[in-house]
Amino acid sequence: MRLRDFCRKVFFVVLVMVFLIGVTSCSSERSTNQAVKTSPGHAVDQETVTRNVYENELARTPPMGWNSWNCFHKDINEVQIKQIADAMVDSGMRDAGYEYLVLDDAWMAPERDSNGCLVGDPKRFPSGMKALGDYIHSKGLKFGIYEDRGHSTCQQLPGSFEHEQVDMSTFAAWGVDYIKLDSCFAENNGRLTTEDYTIYKNCIIKAGRPIVLSISDFGNGGWAWDGKDMAHLWRTSGDIGADIRSVYNCAETSAGDRHIHSAFNGLWQFAGPGHWNDPDMLQVGNLPNPVEDRTHFSLWCILAAPLMAGNDLRSMSDTVRDILTAPEVIAVNQDPRGIQGYKIHDGGDIEIYNKPLHDGTTAVLLLNKGSENADITVTWDKIMLSGKQKVRDLWAREDLGDYKDSYTAENVLQHGHQLIRVGSIGAPLPTPEPVPVDKYTVNNSGITYLSDLYYVWKNNNGPNSDKNGNGNQITINGVTYDKGLGCRGTTKVMYKLNNATLFSAVIGLDDSYSGDRTGRFRVFNEDLFGNRVLFDSGRMSKDSPAKSIDLDVKGVKCLLLVFEGRNVLGNLADARVISTEPDTEACE
Ligand code: GAL
Repeated sequence: MRLRDFCRKVFFVVLVMVFLIGVTSCSSERSTNQAVKTSPGHAVDQETVTRNVYENELARTPPMGWNSWNCFHKDINEVQIKQIADAMVDSGMRDAGYEYLVLDDAWMAPERDSNGCLVGDPKRFPSGMKALGDYIHSKGLKFGIYEDRGHSTCQQLPGSFEHEQVDMSTFAAWGVDYIKLDSCFAENNGRLTTEDYTIYKNCIIKAGRPIVLSISDFGNGGWAWDGKDMAHLWRTSGDIGADIRSVYNCAETSAGDRHIHSAFNGLWQFAGPGHWNDPDMLQVGNLPNPVEDRTHFSLWCILAAPLMAGNDLRSMSDTVRDILTAPEVIAVNQDPRGIQGYKIHDGGDIEIYNKPLHDGTTAVLLLNKGSENADITVTWDKIMLSGKQKVRDLWAREDLGDYKDSYTAENVLQHGHQLIRVGSIGAPLPTPEPVPVDKYTVNNSGITYLSDLYYVWKNNNGPNSDKNGNGNQITINGVTYDKGLGCRGTTKVMYKLNNATLFSAVIGLDDSYSGDRTGRFRVFNEDLFGNRVLFDSGRMSKDSPAKSIDLDVKGVKCLLLVFEGRNVLGNLADARVISTEPDTEACE
């Protein structure tokens, strides 16, 4: 090879390398994929190390930190964020366990730079995000940042859609440890939610820095479509507000049947070390009084929810600081066994929750959501104990004595509660049996009627099984059906299909519906963000003939059925899936 050709080749290779560096990260301080030595003689590549850490070591207990959104919304800047970092240390929050300082929406400039890279807003973050991350790290804290998987964030700033790798590599180069990944505009992506979050997971792993990934999707069913395979936590709710009713509503998305079949008793069985239900960030310090602040905090602790403080730490009162740093209450949240607490009593205004801990004791929350003071009694049989048991008040940090068979919290204030620990150190107490997988997943070959399965996600109403929306026999155009799903008003439900091949049903309004409104049936692959419509009936009235639908659902993991029509009775009669065994005799 002539020297000139050789030089040309070298020049070309260097050019390509420079280009690749430019597109995979936007910072000179990139993380690289160099080989990492784990033990003498064994070289493991950085991606494998990161994958292992990402999947097995992060968020073993619910993440704790602070996030800018609940108190500052869009109004954030580097001076104030540094003050927050200082306050996290000075207030004792860091030492109490709060480690992630997360910048929510609106940290970025309205446009990417000329290389297509995200940059901090030049007026509000003039020193740049790497410098801010360095400051946060210098305080012994971890750096968290917000992005959106759509083309824009919720505040109309640049989103990560089609910039996934470059953005994740940029974050890694800035030293980011936690990403809250939102979902505004994601319905335009043309991808399923699971496809989206899998892309981000793989980009993070490729970027070579272990980063906690928090799914923010307003409660779109992360537990249902195995969000745990992609991320470490997922939202179960819409946005939390600074009032106790909103706090209760968000808690219900995780503890109640707002978004799942009531047979599950909330989402507790879907949480555990490395994967958590997230009913949204804390409003402690933003609520009108300490009684409500404490109730909110205890609820989040018993639900093993991520503890992301959302108040202005620079000006919080000593009372609020003491609430956020209460050691024995936080210990319930951070218990290494990682069981999410579940309701053992729901009497409307009075609720009792139980969270068995790793050391043989159990935490019990006695909650008064009502407007009158109340006495609340927990009996030991409900928490797998009997006889005489020790009781400790976790807010007062004092032993209350031994109680036989039960304990009564007296005169609990409205929106107040008592949080106690019951029992003695020993073998861990059992939890209730989780709902078995085959009760909510199509596992058998042949026909499975969806009315024989529990749905794993719902919004609005859930359907009736084998009855119309009024609880009577399903009837369409004079034909009666013994099986099927009956909806009353707008109904959205997701079923886990696994490996089914065909979905079929006969759809139409119930003969008993006499109104003039119309109803519309749609079937989606997975969730609404995915926007993969498999079937759309258009508007059907009571006079429309029934429609038979047969849909190919090969590869569809979760099927979403949507019926829309205010107070209309709509049926998916005989709704069923057929699974065929894979043809093992097939030729190669
Ligand atoms: C919402 C999200 C909030 C906050 C906000 C920022 O979608 O639920 O927690 O991040 O976007 O615009």
